[in-house]
Amino acid sequence: MKNFWDELPRPFFALAPMEAVTDIVFRQVVARAGRPDIFFTEFTNATGWDAAGDKAIGGRLVKAEDEAPIVAQLWGSVPEAMAHMSDHVASLGYDGIDINMGCPDSSAVKTGGGSGMIRTPALAGEMIAAAKTSGLPVSVKTRLGYSRVDEWQDWLAFLLQQDIAALTIHLRTKKEMSKVPAHFELLQPIRELRDAVAPHTPLMINGDIMDRAHGERLAEEHGVDGIMIGRGIFSNPFAFTGHTFTSPEDKKQQLLELLQLHLSLYNQWHEVTGRPYETLKRFYKIYVRDFEGSSDMRANLMQTKSTDEARALVATLQR
Ligand SMILES: Cc1cc2nc3c(=O)[nH]c(=O)nc-3n(C[C@H](O)[C@H](O)[C@H](O)COP(=O)(O)O)c2cc1C
Repeated sequence: MKNFWDELPRPFFALAPMEAVTDIVFRQVVARAGRPDIFFTEFTNATGWDAAGDKAIGGRLVKAEDEAPIVAQLWGSVPEAMAHMSDHVASLGYDGIDINMGCPDSSAVKTGGGSGMIRTPALAGEMIAAAKTSGLPVSVKTRLGYSRVDEWQDWLAFLLQQDIAALTIHLRTKKEMSKVPAHFELLQPIRELRDAVAPHTPLMINGDIMDRAHGERLAEEHGVDGIMIGRGIFSNPFAFTGHTFTSPEDKKQQLLELLQLHLSLYNQWHEVTGRPYETLKRFYKIYVRDFEGSSDMRANLMQTKSTDEARALVATLQR
């Protein structure tokens, strides 16, 4: 079975999985602005899907042909459900499966999923083995530990021993949520651990990395293989490129053009994703900002009831 992880450039860049953000529509916008080397879906619950089928997961696994390589991120705490869901993901044409072992939300942790896995390594190992039965490469995204930073040594060593396709580390503990700066100071010892335990397992880092230039600096300094960017895409949708703007007006026009694209793609995919128009509004602040009148325009956009209304408003600002 082909393993796309073996064929990536160094460093490689990934768009982070983000619930209610990185659906097919937003991924296509990011691809147009500046394509990362790998896409991840929003996290999808294997247990829910196993019990109730596609209606339990909405449009989370909708993808387009041209998104390869794309990884389905799954979570749960029942190995049998993970095995079933992984087979399904393989049949949908995904290039890999990533298991979420880092989500701090109580909805995931209370059933032992997400960062709850950090406390049950044996079960985490069973989940990885279950996903591998699909034949797809299986990676893991996790945090440094559950409540203490020094948990990273045992936890990451355990994961690296599971013969996984890649390891992504969000450089904080579950307890730290996103409230403290990412622990970049641990990159060297973590890299050394990887080199000692599983030298061929690609190591991807995540947390507070703003754009390609920032990621390239970290990769060069610390010898990590991959860089994952999440919230950086909100402050700069062109984060995966070295893109610069020629003037404030150029920035305004390019961002508005991307917003128009987002609106069109939303319409294009609406029938399959089924996401209500209101869900689009959280994106408007990405595109409408930093120019005179931008906050009024955002307020007006928040009142709109359809993409047609939004499109007409945005057009009044376009050259
Ligand atoms: C709105 C939002 C939704 C997220 N959803 C997921 C998710 O579904 N799966 C996951 O592994 N991480 C999720 N995360 C965490 C991000 O993938 C990433 O680890 C975190 O934001 C830190 O990276 P950053 O500083 O580059 O944003 C989410 C983060 C945000 C802000």
